[in-house]
Amino acid sequence: MEERIFIVGLSQIWGVIPQERRSLAGAEMDKDFGHIDNAYVEISMPGGTVASMGTMDTLDRSRLEGATVLSGHGRMLIPAFADSHTHLVYAGSREGEFEDKIRGLSYEEIAARGGGILNSADRLHRTTDNELFMGAMGRLAEIASKGTAAVEIKSGYGLNLADELRMLRVIARLKESSPLEIKATFLGAHAVGREYAGRQQEYVDMLIADMLPAVAAEGLAEYVDVFCDRGFFTVEQTDAILEAASRYGFRPKIHANELDISGGVQVGVAHGALSVDHLERIGQDEIDVLRRSSTVATMLPGASFFLGLPFAPARIAVNSGLTVALASDYNPGSSPSGDMRMVWALGCIKMKLNPVEALAACTVNGAAAMELSDTVGSIAPGRPASFILTRPVPSLAFIPYAYTSPWIERMFIRGREMELHP
Ligand code: NIG
Ligand code: FE
Repeated sequence: MEERIFIVGLSQIWGVIPQERRSLAGAEMDKDFGHIDNAYVEISMPGGTVASMGTMDTLDRSRLEGATVLSGHGRMLIPAFADSHTHLVYAGSREGEFEDKIRGLSYEEIAARGGGILNSADRLHRTTDNELFMGAMGRLAEIASKGTAAVEIKSGYGLNLADELRMLRVIARLKESSPLEIKATFLGAHAVGREYAGRQQEYVDMLIADMLPAVAAEGLAEYVDVFCDRGFFTVEQTDAILEAASRYGFRPKIHANELDISGGVQVGVAHGALSVDHLERIGQDEIDVLRRSSTVATMLPGASFFLGLPFAPARIAVNSGLTVALASDYNPGSSPSGDMRMVWALGCIKMKLNPVEALAACTVNGAAAMELSDTVGSIAPGRPASFILTRPVPSLAFIPYAYTSPWIERMFIRGREMELHP
């Protein structure tokens, strides 16, 4: 049965962006991430779309009769988060490596000893599909309760044909079972699988000859990713993988410049990457290459925070006119948290984005980095009602400022209310 829900008296609605804008670049991230003061929104169910919205003085109050009416008094409505880079399908956890890091080992040293990604791959080989699925469903419920409505999920802990396919099939099941919108990325080139130890080029050749066609044949991924960085995959190998991937219609979203000035940005942009991600180590060259492209610059402050790496230069990137997205990188090794509330706050505290810019990076630009601009990341009539109703807050800036105070009162995905976990 048709039902209408009104939220009335909102102090502000944020993320009001003209329909034709798919992403915001540079100064637009502040200027064009619009808001309406003293506002209402109308949700129509069961479709779960925004039926109307505007200032309170434009609301015909007779329409509230027979509708569900929620108070927005002192509260804000902001777009749900669009988390465009995660590895949230994984087996077990890696707190042993966390303790190694506390004792002084670096991420690269742990990886070189056979820990890191290979440790997760070993665990995944011993885990059933159902266990993987259930673990990921739990994480999806957790991030939904923290405000995320759309998420990209990568493979990359299988590292052999059978297990990469297994991971991607789990992601396909998640798409069907979870209220979140999900995009799948094939990341066979995350590390060299153990069976190919010392034979990296053979692994890359096998990935191109066997893995890519199998992933394409089953339609298991939208994107392809390569960890193009020191100690992982070279620019030449990345180029070969992306070249082969383009023949199957996979657009790249790649890991670049986390550990070194790797050439990853340039090779990604040359292949028309939807996004290049990490970017802790970029200079003027990379900024110039990105400025001349339509590639989203995705930064992952949770990984910098957790690993003690430098933060990617988001302030410089925005000042240079780039389209910057922020994402969680949720994974068991370098960012064991998918909490986009924290990512928003780190964007402000550590990367010196203002609260509006950082929110634009977590919403509209994250959506663009998943080609989901029509369904998440902004609030507009006709679009899905995927947004967060805040508790009473004095201002938008208060939220990333009081960065551990609970501020989510209700969370909706396509008009459906999500359960809030404590
Ligand atoms: O994005 N940098 C490469 N991959 C992940 C880490 C994965 C892991 O350690 O399990 C990342 O940080
Ligand atoms: Fe990652």
